[in-house]
Amino acid sequence: MTTAPPRPPALSGLVTLPGVYAPQADTHLLARVLAAEPVGPGTRVLDLCTGSGALALLAALRGAHVSATDLSWRAVLSTRLNAARARQRVRVLRGDLSGPVRGQRFDLVVSNPPYVPAPGAPRRRDHSAALAWDAGPGGRRTLDRVCAHAGQVLSAHGVLLLVHSGMCRTEETLRRLAEAGLRGEVADRCHVPFGPVTRARLGWLRAEGLLEPDGEHEELVVIRAARE
Ligand SMILES: C[S@@+](CC[C@H](N)C(=O)[O-])C[C@H]1O[C@@H](n2cnc3c(N)ncnc32)[C@H](O)[C@@H]1O
Repeated sequence: MTTAPPRPPALSGLVTLPGVYAPQADTHLLARVLAAEPVGPGTRVLDLCTGSGALALLAALRGAHVSATDLSWRAVLSTRLNAARARQRVRVLRGDLSGPVRGQRFDLVVSNPPYVPAPGAPRRRDHSAALAWDAGPGGRRTLDRVCAHAGQVLSAHGVLLLVHSGMCRTEETLRRLAEAGLRGEVADRCHVPFGPVTRARLGWLRAEGLLEPDGEHEELVVIRAARE
């Protein structure tokens, strides 16, 4: 079983306002894949669902032109604060996925969207921490939209890096990406012990068949996709 990578040193000490997602194993796994991409001065990067701005900052530190979006004002403010503290320029916009950058194209899109399956409709209040993880009964409420949005904002040779739980069904992500004209593959994966959110709804997740009856770990997967 592959364990989660360590936190990149550059992500130590990030500020997160109350309710904002602090970088975790999924962030670190995506960061590892991001590190292998040819990002440099002039690369246009978009971080969808930026949270603390962790992934946006890693790209900015390599000289990229970085834009980042989040639905939460507190996430937007956290990212602006973290960018200022790191003396990096990141354009941080509040809004739904790629809505704030409609019509623009990016060489690299990274995203760690909400993906934890949740019974019932997700709460949409700006200050609700659950905005960072609740993703509807199959966990795909935002994921499917990220696949579609990526197709609209990637440049001709652009690449999407997307992380989610194995509970959300990797093959469905690959299918959705293909619908958007993108060919995806699994770039990295790891297994992590259940976190507090998954643990709190373990009975429901197992009853839905989303988790093994006796497992204690969750698989995280990073998908890398590019135009066909
Ligand atoms: C799992 S957190 C990821 C944060 C950060 N990118 C990371 O990897 O640590 C998901 C983020 O998505 C944001 N979010 C949820 N729905 C969104 C939407 N429709 N458009 C933009 N951001 C959204 C949440 O506010 C939260 O900051």
